[in-house]
Amino acid sequence: MTYVECFMIIMATWFMFISYGHGADVAEPPMIDDVAASPGTTNGLDTAWYDARATYYGDIHGVGTEQGACGYGDPNKHGYGVATAALSTALFNNGATCGACYEIMCAPNPQGCLSGSIKITATNLCPPDSTWCNLPNKHFDLSLPMFIKIAQVKAGIVPVRYRRVPCAKTGGVKFEVKGNPSFLTILPYNVGGAGDIKAVYVKGSKTEWIAMSRNWGQNWTSNVNLTGQSVSLRVTTSDEVTKDFTDVMPQSWGFGQTFDGKTNF
Ligand SMILES: *[C@@H]1O[C@H](CO)[C@@H](O)[C@H](O)[C@H]1NC(C)=O
Ligand SMILES: *[C@@H]1O[C@H](CO)[C@@H](O)[C@H](O)[C@H]1NC(C)=O
Repeated sequence: MTYVECFMIIMATWFMFISYGHGADVAEPPMIDDVAASPGTTNGLDTAWYDARATYYGDIHGVGTEQGACGYGDPNKHGYGVATAALSTALFNNGATCGACYEIMCAPNPQGCLSGSIKITATNLCPPDSTWCNLPNKHFDLSLPMFIKIAQVKAGIVPVRYRRVPCAKTGGVKFEVKGNPSFLTILPYNVGGAGDIKAVYVKGSKTEWIAMSRNWGQNWTSNVNLTGQSVSLRVTTSDEVTKDFTDVMPQSWGFGQTFDGKTNF
């Protein structure tokens, strides 16, 4: 064996040792205090942990979840159930974060907190007239069934750590169609991946792609008249992933109907 070959074997062994050691470090669960400081992104999502506070609304059955600044109306009908939260103005971002998913854990408050974390979808705006939801506070108003998984009810308000997580949804993206022939409104829901949508384009079988604008929560509108045409939708989530839902609305589509995109992010 030449000197060079011998050197290379030693280097390779050393490198494997270093890599293994590093891998072992990464696998170790982070301590709570490290977690808040560790920035990171998953598929373009900022998955770093941040500080906020949480309260609850409604009763144990999730009643009180009905009205929605995101446009979802009844979250049960739109498949979000009670795993939802109303966001303070600072987090709501004028409705742009509607549909985003968060992991939330209570910390640090040894008296009020329970261990473990919850995952919720942002489906509403926490009324800014309630002190905690005013700017610049970062606040989650949770349904009671979710709150009691991370904190004791009697705590009322608790400090939390939160981070964005990919939304795990079952089935395809759904599109609820409202409006009239001169004002088309599309509400996409059950959106996986990043969950919040930054752009929607619509295309009739006789038109090019037309940009829609977000007028309210996740309601997207255009004044194009596509009656009698099959309609395709192009959706881009906040992490820049774009999907086409080709002819998701058949030629015979009507206002008030909901269409299944079949695929998801
Ligand atoms: C948003 O869309 C939903 C469902 O299509 C509809 O019920 C609601 O009225 C819309 N809100 C606005 C302000 O357009
Ligand atoms: C929309 O298009 C359909 C089909 O071309 C037409 O019958 C209808 O009059 C149009 N409505 C408006 C408001 O332009």
